Amino acid sequence: MKTVVANWKMNVGVRESVALARASLLTLRGRKVIPDLVICPPFVALSEVRKVVARSSANIGAQNMFWEPSGSHTGETSSRMLLELGVSHCLIGHSERRVQLGETDEMINKKVLHALSEQMTPILCVGESKEQRVAGDARAVVEAQLSSALRGVRLHTQGSLFVAYEPVWAIGTNDSASVGDVIEMHRFIRSVLERIFPDAPAGQFSILYGGSVDGENAYGFLREAEVDGVLVGSASVKINQFKEIVEAAAEVLEAQSA
Ligand code: PGA
Repeated sequence: MKTVVANWKMNVGVRESVALARASLLTLRGRKVIPDLVICPPFVALSEVRKVVARSSANIGAQNMFWEPSGSHTGETSSRMLLELGVSHCLIGHSERRVQLGETDEMINKKVLHALSEQMTPILCVGESKEQRVAGDARAVVEAQLSSALRGVRLHTQGSLFVAYEPVWAIGTNDSASVGDVIEMHRFIRSVLERIFPDAPAGQFSILYGGSVDGENAYGFLREAEVDGVLVGSASVKINQFKEIVEAAAEVLEAQSA
């Protein structure tokens, strides 16, 4: 299977989200095989977007969540609230939150543990900065992020896990990683996950690539066996671009099933 995650970030309001959700669903029409679609609107648009996707196969994801079910946490949103709105996936540890809001490895670990305990699928984002890549530390950084985020997780008894490899320097820059670098890092991430979860059945984790994925380069990533899907930011709010990405995923799936 291939998954396309749309991360709308803080780029659309409620009305635009509804229109974008409708248009995003239309991209699935008429295809023999369709990718899994996970739409992550801003919190304020979740309930309206839910109505739009209700009778479709698309899933709704949140862009963040708190690690406790309720309590005195002003401004935060709990998993319970999100589950009530039909949210099944949650982005956790996106680099924008790590960098802009000081989200720590410890916070990310608590969120992953909590999401899994609530039967929500975490989309854990990891990735190195430009300086770290230039210094040759990309693997070490990603390994450290995975180890800390997944501390205490028992995947064989809990739900599934998505890891999104998103090199920080490729996010929102029109400078995506090369397919070769993505394959190499995805293989490495898989080996780390297999070491952390030796008993996890195949298919319990999926590895996505994110960072300047667009209509032009999506097929190149998606056709690779190592890439289970893509996490799309900027291009997910440009419907023509998004359509091309969904079509690329559908083409890959159709070729596989032929
Ligand atoms: P981008 O963002 O597609 O705009 O690079 C990806 C992301 O931040 O998830």
